[in-house]
Amino acid sequence: MTEQQPPEDRRTTEDATGAPVFKGRKNGPYRGVSAELAEWMRTGWADTERRDLEPVEQAPYAAKRRAALSARFPGERLVVPAGDLKVRSNDTEYPFRAASDYVYLTGDRSEGGCLVLEPRADGGHDAAVYLLPRSDRDNGEFWLDGHGELWTGRRHSLAEASTLLGLPARDVRTLAGVLGGAPAKPARIVRGHDAGLEAVLASDRSGEGAEKAAGRDEELAVFLHDLRLVKDEWEVGQLQRAVDSTVRGFEDVVRMLPEAEATSERYVEGAFFLRARVEGNDVGYGTIAASGPNATTLHWVRNDGPVRRGELLLLDAGVETTTLYTADVTRTIPVSGRFTDVQRRVYDLVHAAQEAGIAEVRPGNPFRAYHDTAQRVLAEGLVEWGLLEGPVERVVGLGLQRRYTLHGTGHMLGLDVHDCAVARTGAYVDGLLEPGMVLTVEPGLYFQPDDLTVPEELRGIGVRIEDDILVTPEGNRNLSEGLPRSSADVEAWLADRLPRA
Ligand code: GLY
Ligand code: MN
Ligand code: MN
Repeated sequence: MTEQQPPEDRRTTEDATGAPVFKGRKNGPYRGVSAELAEWMRTGWADTERRDLEPVEQAPYAAKRRAALSARFPGERLVVPAGDLKVRSNDTEYPFRAASDYVYLTGDRSEGGCLVLEPRADGGHDAAVYLLPRSDRDNGEFWLDGHGELWTGRRHSLAEASTLLGLPARDVRTLAGVLGGAPAKPARIVRGHDAGLEAVLASDRSGEGAEKAAGRDEELAVFLHDLRLVKDEWEVGQLQRAVDSTVRGFEDVVRMLPEAEATSERYVEGAFFLRARVEGNDVGYGTIAASGPNATTLHWVRNDGPVRRGELLLLDAGVETTTLYTADVTRTIPVSGRFTDVQRRVYDLVHAAQEAGIAEVRPGNPFRAYHDTAQRVLAEGLVEWGLLEGPVERVVGLGLQRRYTLHGTGHMLGLDVHDCAVARTGAYVDGLLEPGMVLTVEPGLYFQPDDLTVPEELRGIGVRIEDDILVTPEGNRNLSEGLPRSSADVEAWLADRLPRA
């Protein structure tokens, strides 16, 4: 089902006689189903209902988050969809990844799900999650529909889901009726994940005008991203898991560098992906495996270039846990095991900027402080090298260093790699750091291969060092300290793992 269709379209429709019709492949080999086979397939199945389940670990945390949401929007119906499958081509779909706000508020990651908070007359809300129930054995959906359980795997029954999530679970096929039915209620929806549900709600909200409805929905999204800025202890644990797995992925890549040299950057991407899939859900964003001059392209995800000795390999990658929290780590390593003098000079400056940036991460400091400090260190180095004309105040004031530093020094991290993207600027980029925030510190220097403003020896060198930092009451903790950062430590680390180094 595409995002444009309401959830019930995933289901069967009935023909004129009331018999179910399944959308099969036009050219599949089995077109007809005899009455005997249909009847036989209905029966002979064991009861597999799980009655031994316990709530998932995050259920109490999700309940607290829903309580905060309920308190902010009293008297209003709040709709938070998971999103649904997206067609990749013909009858194949992209791997599904549930919308982050839905995961945050439910702990669930089922395709087609939706959380609804219904306002109660006496204040507060009743929360329920709407899910696709188990496939129906009676009408054959479980084996005749491409989304049936025999094709895609067993789903939880609604009773099982309810136990796991600590929430009433209802059939998502009834949701359009619930939302579209009388009486109309003031409602908000997190947009961008389920156009079908948005359409159902829109018809109900025509009275308030499209612009006002959009503004109210935006307030809901902003509130949720504000809430997600400070991680609870369970989330910090998940982020540490994501980072630890990522560290192992980087170790894998180093051990496989000879294979990458014999093939391409794809081997680096593939080696990391194997770790991500075995230990987690996926990578949290497209892996950047950029060797040589490709490292000067910030989001180099083509990963089809050669990996050569004598060049640097910039690997920016993060494992996403099964609970959908992601790491975001970058290391830039010499493929040979040793930096050349010029590579080391660039690397050491970026490292100094990162050290200075990390030292600015503490409660009460402005979010911008670590960016400004790291940029200043880079600008000082570039002036000292004669690449930029001082004084440093002028360079920084005009932002001239940005020709070579290109991007901001970091961002919040969590369920999304660029987490809390629509949070209020006053709470995020113009706000102060608080314990429980997790952010990246990732300065870089990039000298484009065709940049005539830099000496030839620098052209084609790109270096970024990126760590995931938790703001603690005392200051900060580097969640990714398991990977070396200084040039000397990187070389020692490689020497232990590369036979030739
Ligand atoms: N990998 C994207 C970033 O570092 O922000
Ligand atoms: Mn990154
Ligand atoms: Mn990043």
